Amino acid sequence: MSVSQNEGKQTTATISIGGKTAEMPVMSGTLGPDVIDIRKLPSQLDVFTFDPGYGETASCTSKVTFIDGDKGILLHRGYPIAQLAEEASFEEVIYLLLNGELPNATEYQQFRQSLTNHTLLHEQIRNFFNGFRRDAHPMAILCGTVGALSAFYPDASDIALPENRQLAAMRLIAKVPTITAWAYKYTQGEAFIYPNNSLNYAENFLSMMFAREVEPYKVNPVLARAMNRILILHADHEQNASTSTVRMAGSTGANPFACIAAGIAALWGPAHGGANEAVLKMLAHIGRKENIPAFIAQVKDKNSGVKLMGFGHRVYKNFDPRAKIMERTCHEVLGELGIKDDPLLELAIELEKIALNDPYFVERKLYPNVDFYSGIILKAMGIPTSMFTPLFALARTTGWVSQWKEMIEEPGQRISRPRQLYLGAAQRDFVALDKR
Ligand code: ACO
Repeated sequence: MSVSQNEGKQTTATISIGGKTAEMPVMSGTLGPDVIDIRKLPSQLDVFTFDPGYGETASCTSKVTFIDGDKGILLHRGYPIAQLAEEASFEEVIYLLLNGELPNATEYQQFRQSLTNHTLLHEQIRNFFNGFRRDAHPMAILCGTVGALSAFYPDASDIALPENRQLAAMRLIAKVPTITAWAYKYTQGEAFIYPNNSLNYAENFLSMMFAREVEPYKVNPVLARAMNRILILHADHEQNASTSTVRMAGSTGANPFACIAAGIAALWGPAHGGANEAVLKMLAHIGRKENIPAFIAQVKDKNSGVKLMGFGHRVYKNFDPRAKIMERTCHEVLGELGIKDDPLLELAIELEKIALNDPYFVERKLYPNVDFYSGIILKAMGIPTSMFTPLFALARTTGWVSQWKEMIEEPGQRISRPRQLYLGAAQRDFVALDKR
């Protein structure tokens, strides 16, 4: 294959296979490497490309999020994640991801008002919770209940109408915190706390999680700020497994609530959103600093199947820009709560130190990811480990909805349909049961 520029300055890739040659256009984005448009490859050369997991394939065009994994860059609509996490409210980030630009003061007020209009759940949904076991994983409750919203908003199925898409987007982003907090309350056997529309998004979620009917509850501003940051840091991350799942489900024209439920299911796995929960389980398993060397030896042993949870990333191969902000937030929260010498934090810092200097991790470019510290922050806030992934899903709903909307609004949008390299039996004749 060779890449060249023709007279019209169009860069093309010339691909030759078995004596046949075809020219494929090369597409340039605003940032990032060029991509070869191979859509005509099957018709011109009678071949497909092989890319299991789509790691080297651009499955869509997008204007929402840009990541440069080698340089540790993450931009939402062009804005660096560190600036957003330090200076923006989560509502501003929601508006930005959904609409492409930051809101002005009037737009911001209207948007917040509109979001709070949708925080309540249909009272019938309360009954759904009673159908779950009290010890159900909150991700199971979240996945089921978000999917069930499709039964309450059948109008959302007509996604050809822009107003229906916008309404579904607002409903999803506004209602998922209520469902998430209620999933927690349900597993605790506590009464549900209704949304309080005088609070901002992060405060309201904390209130629905921790307030009790019987006593006043005041949201701690340091914890609300930390929650705001955690939400921003998890809001979107380009075409990851769960987002691609939402896009794939959405490409069929499915109801948006069902598509987001599909994203929640994909996020649940320990290689994706389940990692923050897995980090805490790992730290608890290690228990003491003295046990770290033996644990690291296990991690390096390929036969053990043990991984250093919270380390490594499919895209970031130098550092995860979200991890640094998370580390700082972790110290702020522990300081505010007066947690000194937290044994888990000490273990985490020691693990990080060892791993960052160990050739196994250095050579493989394995650095702490966003989940390494988020688990410790959430634990300090009193959020149980089973709620870590639901919280991630709550934050990521904004990204999923923004990417879903972008996909549906793309001219010429088609159903997603990957191909395969078939390795099964060649054609053969059926043999009747009594002849086998
Ligand atoms: N601990 C030990 N070894 C690891 C780890 C880890 N956490 N991650 C990768 N490696 C090793 C692999 O075994 C492989 O070694 P090899 O080259 O000797 O075979 C090498 O590093 C490359 O790893 P890949 O599996 O190719 O990396 P990939 O990009 O496919 O995986 C992933 C990324 C899934 C995140 C992986 O690093 C992992 O499982 N990490 C732990 C789970 C985790 O923290 N996930 C959260 C991701 S962030 C998020 O979803 C928000």
